[in-house]
Amino acid sequence: MMKKLMVFALPLLATACGEDNNQSKIVARWYTQSQVDSGRVLFEKNCAACHGKNAQGTFKWRQPLADGSYPPPPLNGTAHTWHHSLKMLKRTIDYGGIPLGGKMPAFKGKLSESEKEAVIAFFQSFWSKEIYDAWVKRGGLK
Ligand code: HEC
Repeated sequence: MMKKLMVFALPLLATACGEDNNQSKIVARWYTQSQVDSGRVLFEKNCAACHGKNAQGTFKWRQPLADGSYPPPPLNGTAHTWHHSLKMLKRTIDYGGIPLGGKMPAFKGKLSESEKEAVIAFFQSFWSKEIYDAWVKRGGLK
């Protein structure tokens, strides 16, 4: 009888723990599902025109334009974005690429700290486990 109860109770327990209240951290990542969700809206409004709706970037992002600047790269983990720590990513969003001869506009004063974190969460949600883990190993969370 006892054994039967245990078997019965286990899946129930698992459901309760796995329940997504949208505040729970996505397994082994720094952000929550609600950050990804609000990041999607912010990304669409501020970044997608250049970086693509799903942060896929431009087709020939490796090829410089006539003026020597580069087209918007993918942020979805297929380019170098994972080489930059959270702090660096926030700085890129704040200052853009124009001071470095690039084209990306600055978002300082336009996106709050939590909005920047949400857009980063959104594009990082496309990163594979391998890329995300490599990013953490390089000191991404610093
Ligand atoms: C007007 C087009 C444009 C918009 C809008 C834009 N970007 Fe960019 N972004 C670029 C370009 C072009 C680059 C490459 C560097 C440069 O030219 O400034 C870049 C580079 C980046 C990088 C560095 C990527 C890497 O692999 O090193 C990040 C991160 C980034 N953008 C995030 C964002 C986010 C987040 C937003 C929205 C808040 C955004 N960008 C909006 C054009 C844009």
